Amino acid sequence: MAEILPVGEAMERALALLEGGDVVAIPTETVYGLAGDATNGVGVARIFEAKGRPRFNPLIAHVADLAMAERIAIFDPMSKRLAEMFWPGPLTLVLPQQAGNGIHPLVTAGLDTIALRMPRGFGGELIARLGRPLAAPSANSSGKISATTAQAVAADLGAKIQLVVDGGATPVGLESTIVKVEGGTVRLLRPGGIAAADIEAAVGTKLLRGAISGIEAPGMLASHYAPGASVRLNAQSVAEGEALLAFGGDRADGWQAAVALLNLSASGDLREAASNLFAHLQELDRSGAATIAVEPIPVDGLGEAINDRLFRAAAPRDKVGRAP
Ligand code: TXA
Ligand code: MG
Repeated sequence: MAEILPVGEAMERALALLEGGDVVAIPTETVYGLAGDATNGVGVARIFEAKGRPRFNPLIAHVADLAMAERIAIFDPMSKRLAEMFWPGPLTLVLPQQAGNGIHPLVTAGLDTIALRMPRGFGGELIARLGRPLAAPSANSSGKISATTAQAVAADLGAKIQLVVDGGATPVGLESTIVKVEGGTVRLLRPGGIAAADIEAAVGTKLLRGAISGIEAPGMLASHYAPGASVRLNAQSVAEGEALLAFGGDRADGWQAAVALLNLSASGDLREAASNLFAHLQELDRSGAATIAVEPIPVDGLGEAINDRLFRAAAPRDKVGRAP
């Protein structure tokens, strides 16, 4: 079973594991990441192994500072501006790779671009101490809900990894926003912890939307972020035996009959809702309900990313869900 150490006591042990080509679960401001040395093929392979992740899905390389980022990728004035405005923070930039950057090809699944992000807090310090970038997908089994607490990481991956660094509940609660910067344009590949409108305000132009090719649709359209229960969106009423994921002050009809009820934000605050999303889904899933009904959530601001994750959680599964 993985050891859980608080951030204040975990640095040396985390460094030793990474130096040895092993993986470590770490807190970031978005969600917990399962980190390995991005220049070490064994470390990167262990990430895929622990997650049970399809090899073609590329990983984000996390950096400590802009100098490290510029050794890995080619920045144009637009990407430099975005990095300066939003790093450290929940923004991932997909950029052309710098030749000979030492990043193991498993990280990028052989693409000539790379996804880069500079996390806040323990992750940033760890990368600076290691002196090398960390590849880190969200610390959950492939297709499952991203972990926002050390306990959720341990419950899912504890048998497969040695160390979970405990930084408490992650403040943002949603993965980073991913944009691809190319020829002076910025394309939104995945809505996330920074609202698209905030990026548009910063760069002064509209974001392009939609993937260019299959691999550029992060998370893919198939079932993703999937709890054991099935998920029913925009619920106006609650059916017999359902759990209810609520939002705001008005309840869906028949809410009194819900087998479990959690509110993402009673005051209708989308930031609070984002930070509660994954933990609430997991807790409602533990109620054993066959279906989680979800009240409508507005799509503005962080609501875009929240709805994106819920849409994927509700997508048809290749596996049959929990038996009634
Ligand atoms: O907040 C986050 O972004 C978290 C924390 C741990 O940093 N990480 C995270 O990683 O969500 P992951 O691996 O679950 O999602 C990364 C996404 C994948 O869906 C992948 O397809 C996309 O980034 N991606 C990575 N490299 C890419 C590239 N070169 N071009 C397009 N998409 C890329
Ligand atoms: Mg993930």
